[in-house]
Amino acid sequence: QSPSSTIDLEHLEEDGPSQECKDVDIEKGQLSEYHGFWIPTWSLEGVMASQKQFQAHDTDILLMTAPKVGTTWFKAILFALVNRMHYPNLQEHPLLTNLPHALVPMLEVDMYKKKKVKDLNPASPRLLSTHMPYTLLPTSVKNSTCKIVYVYRNPKDTFVSLWHFLNRVHSTTVSLEEAFDKFCRGMSSFGPYWDHVLSCWKESIEKPARKMIFLKYEEMKEQPTIHLRRIAEFLDCPFSLEEEAKGTVNDILKLCSFDNLSNLEVNKNGRFCIPNHETTLFRQGIDHASFFRQGNSGDWVNYFTPHMTKRLDHIIEEKIYGTGFKF
Ligand code: A3P
Repeated sequence: QSPSSTIDLEHLEEDGPSQECKDVDIEKGQLSEYHGFWIPTWSLEGVMASQKQFQAHDTDILLMTAPKVGTTWFKAILFALVNRMHYPNLQEHPLLTNLPHALVPMLEVDMYKKKKVKDLNPASPRLLSTHMPYTLLPTSVKNSTCKIVYVYRNPKDTFVSLWHFLNRVHSTTVSLEEAFDKFCRGMSSFGPYWDHVLSCWKESIEKPARKMIFLKYEEMKEQPTIHLRRIAEFLDCPFSLEEEAKGTVNDILKLCSFDNLSNLEVNKNGRFCIPNHETTLFRQGIDHASFFRQGNSGDWVNYFTPHMTKRLDHIIEEKIYGTGFKF
């Protein structure tokens, strides 16, 4: 039985959004088309519920990402940065014993499944995340002055990372060619990927007063200290002279580095399962290690043929033309 048919959307249908969803069996993990985006069918209910119910606070910090652009890394960085006063002892830091995803809840996954709204940590600021593109965000987020941290990544590496991830978490294999064709047609989780990025970018151009910062995975890899300081300024928690002197910037970067996180017991051997979840994927669970593959930039050269490069470059060029955005 396909995952979508086991999801009970009945209670969310009064406005009819689910009637606008067109289901397509996409081999590994079913996607449903929803207002121009391809949403994993299992998370559609959470998307709709958070759209209807989530009440943003002006003090919230929202990490927005398409899947595989570095969500796990940036969750760790934001958590360590925002909570650094609470955890001065890095030997006992929560990131040493928790997958970053367990520390920063995702609106559509952790908080709004089956309409059961989990209690949010009342501490302020609340640190939250979402894979929803800007156009699908709950109205309360759009109307609030909460801060948005938007992370993006080179589309080719994003695709390669996604392909590996899908083949790792699902039991059957999808070929690179097939997955690439779908990616190019926009049919990737929360895709089209370029529309995900551009929907946020366009908002930042149209509403310059909107509190938003754009961060690129590759730039964070290249100049992490510069960008960590930028993020801290943006979140109104700049590093003090004393922190600078004692090396807090580097401490956070080291704590959140790929080498450190991927070698922790919790991330090497941990697994999260959701018993009774409607999908086999979550009932069987996902290895924490699947969120840590290589953590480098440029791996796409090992997978792309000249034809693939030409095809994706052409699509991206066309999509970003005239927007002022550059990948
Ligand atoms: P690769 O598959 O290219 O290695 P997401 O967290 O959005 O699912 O993205 C996963 C990608 O981020 C994977 O990329 C993963 O290896 C990489 N990643 C995870 N933790 C990281 C870290 N601490 N530093 C850099 N990259 C990291």
